[in-house]
Amino acid sequence: MQNVDCAQSTHQNHTLPTKTTTMNPLQWSTENINVESAPLTTTGGHTWPAAYHLFTYLEYAYDVNKHNMRKHNLRVLELGSGCGWLSIALAANLPTATVCATEQDEGGALAWLQHNVQRSGVGNVQTAPCDWTTVLDVAPNAQQNTVLEQPWDLIIGSDLVYNQAGTQWLPLVLGVLLRRCPVALYCHTKHRYDLLDMEFFEALKAHNIVCTEVYDPSSPPPGSPPLVFPGDLFGEQRRAVLQLTAASSAMMGHC
Ligand SMILES: C[S@@+](CC[C@H](N)C(=O)[O-])C[C@H]1O[C@@H](n2cnc3c(N)ncnc32)[C@H](O)[C@@H]1O
Repeated sequence: MQNVDCAQSTHQNHTLPTKTTTMNPLQWSTENINVESAPLTTTGGHTWPAAYHLFTYLEYAYDVNKHNMRKHNLRVLELGSGCGWLSIALAANLPTATVCATEQDEGGALAWLQHNVQRSGVGNVQTAPCDWTTVLDVAPNAQQNTVLEQPWDLIIGSDLVYNQAGTQWLPLVLGVLLRRCPVALYCHTKHRYDLLDMEFFEALKAHNIVCTEVYDPSSPPPGSPPLVFPGDLFGEQRRAVLQLTAASSAMMGHC
């Protein structure tokens, strides 16, 4: 690992969705969850606010049956885990679950994720390589058992769309995973890059993925597609939790 300027991150300094009586949160704890940040050449060197936002949504979603969060031995796969805060925090609060945090090798991202997972001491979180641009190249009968071949109950991810890997390859990988996994929950910062948003939502559609913004009391109600000229151009950035399912398992949706 290159020279690293480590800083610990917790989610205490971020604005989280307001908990209301309708959300019935479980009061999961993140008190002892901290990960080290590093100046990596990828964007995964620190924890992004969307990771904290999704954690709070998952705490609420535990009681939403369709997300399957009550399942004993729940198996969760995280894509583009960065420092690993979300996977570690989720695993620590779901002791019967297995959570697999993944990253690309590029820029030392996977090595840094492994470092944080190891130092967390949380036993039910593991790491695996998953570069969206190459994971589909592994032949099905090869020795390497990629995360694509394993059964998952829930796929999660946060702030993953900022370049072509996110707009083109990520939807392709999600499409493959959603053939066997019922749902993915992805927390996206809308309007950070409007053109990339547009490409990403188009690619989801092209891969037969239905995208629905999940109700969140702290956000305005879901709007129309990301770019409706001229009103939505340069719309205000906000984090949205998107539920992604295979088109065959859901008939309607909007993002
Ligand atoms: C903005 S960071 C978000 C990290 C983390 N999800 C969070 O919210 O803190 C985007 C992450 O996507 C990962 N990523 C980018 N391209 C990737 C690829 N082709 N395959 C796998 N991960 C990738 C980066 O390494 C980085 O950790």
